[in-house]
Amino acid sequence: MSRIKSPALLVAQAGTGHGLKRTMGRFQLICFGVGAIVGTGIFVGLSDSVAQAGPAVVVSFLLAAITCVFTAFSFAELGGAIPVSGSSYSFAYAGLGETTAFLVGWCLLLEYGISISAVAVGWSQYVNELLHSLTGLTLPAALSAGPGDGGIVNLPAVIVIAMAAVLLVRGVRESARATAAMALLKLAILAAFCAVGYSAFKDGNLTPFSPAGLGGVGAGTTAAFFSYIGFDAITTAGEEAKNPRKDIPVAILVCMGVVTLLYCAVALAAIGAVGGHQVGSRPAALSYVVNEVTGSTVGGGIIAFGAVVAIASVVLAVMYGQTRILLSMSRDGLVPPVFAKVDRRTSTPVAGTLIVAAVFAVPGAFSSLDAVVGLCTIGTLAIMAVVNIAVIALRRSEPGLTRSFRVPLYPVMPLLGIGFCLYLMYETGVTTWLQFAVFLAVGLLVYAGYGRRHSTLVAGAVQAVPVAEDAEVTALPGAGATVLAGVEVTPGATEPARQGA
Ligand code: ALA
Repeated sequence: MSRIKSPALLVAQAGTGHGLKRTMGRFQLICFGVGAIVGTGIFVGLSDSVAQAGPAVVVSFLLAAITCVFTAFSFAELGGAIPVSGSSYSFAYAGLGETTAFLVGWCLLLEYGISISAVAVGWSQYVNELLHSLTGLTLPAALSAGPGDGGIVNLPAVIVIAMAAVLLVRGVRESARATAAMALLKLAILAAFCAVGYSAFKDGNLTPFSPAGLGGVGAGTTAAFFSYIGFDAITTAGEEAKNPRKDIPVAILVCMGVVTLLYCAVALAAIGAVGGHQVGSRPAALSYVVNEVTGSTVGGGIIAFGAVVAIASVVLAVMYGQTRILLSMSRDGLVPPVFAKVDRRTSTPVAGTLIVAAVFAVPGAFSSLDAVVGLCTIGTLAIMAVVNIAVIALRRSEPGLTRSFRVPLYPVMPLLGIGFCLYLMYETGVTTWLQFAVFLAVGLLVYAGYGRRHSTLVAGAVQAVPVAEDAEVTALPGAGATVLAGVEVTPGATEPARQGA
């Protein structure tokens, strides 16, 4: 039996003054989404997707986008209905119960935590490219790659993670401003890349369109999927957005539209300019394309600068998401309380941020991108499948929940989302599945050994009274309690667990 936490209690507990501030408007949320999405996947991973699919990589990008868009609708519905920091973890808690929620939180360590490391590894390729175009020098391989890539330690990866942590502990307003500036800069640089690429576009470079057939497109889709990871990070800002119920759904859908168009345009521009075989499996491929087209290394240097900024912003935004999810899990007792401590001065979870940075700097320093991307992808797809299931479960169990956005064509959309996620999970291959199975088994052990025993959701402390889901949450100054249309929620207190599947 698993324990289910009602959306009303999730929202009420989020409102009990955990110290987070509502500072993010719609524009910041959109920039935050672009900041979290556009990075290593397009600047570094594009060449892998092109190596698999050839010019048909555009189809791969579209298929990966479709998978994400079905699920983006589900995230938009749940992000608007349950605007709390926990994102998919909290949605699973409300829809499917504590065990599933814990496993989703556990998988989020793959989606967010491991992608912090993966993205930081990708960062060092472009740091070297930038250094080379500015000075003609590059960092020694021993200090700019992990052992799997022929080096010893990837110092740039550690540095970018440390910089993101410093910015995040200073305050969410500062981080959101920095992310917005970086998001706009990377959009501008990718638009400039497209202009350069299309100026040298040759139709002949698009043939043969699909050299490896459907298999190549499928493999390209799995590779391209990494480029979209992070769109759900917008929902982790549920407690720091000014108007989460309206702005979160809009921000998610706008981001997905913008990013999909951008990725297809960039892929076509790159291949049209120099041909798929030149783009495939080449490090810093976008810089290479610009250098080839312009006949100078200045343009490539500008692209490298854009990539350095873009990838740093992904590290920043994804690390933000990871700390907020751990904060929610900690609030629920499923991970140690240190993750829920919010610093009074900066209103940020300082200790949690520093722990996350220290832990994920280790794979950043010593692993290769290829080694971690598969696991990150399968974990993210599993979370997305669960979020689609949670939409269906909550429509049944909580029909009266106020939903500021509703998935269109329900239940077709979430069912298609589940189907696409399962297909892409299948495509990740046996080794990744085995690693994932071991990872989940360890997660279950951690849950049984720690989470279940420390969960705050145990019988007895709060009278659960049916509530209107859009009820105002009022913090009572000095009373240390929150009243939510008849439910009194004392911080740290619990409600009787609704037993569920
Ligand atoms: N989507 C993110 C990136 O491409 C993880 O860097």
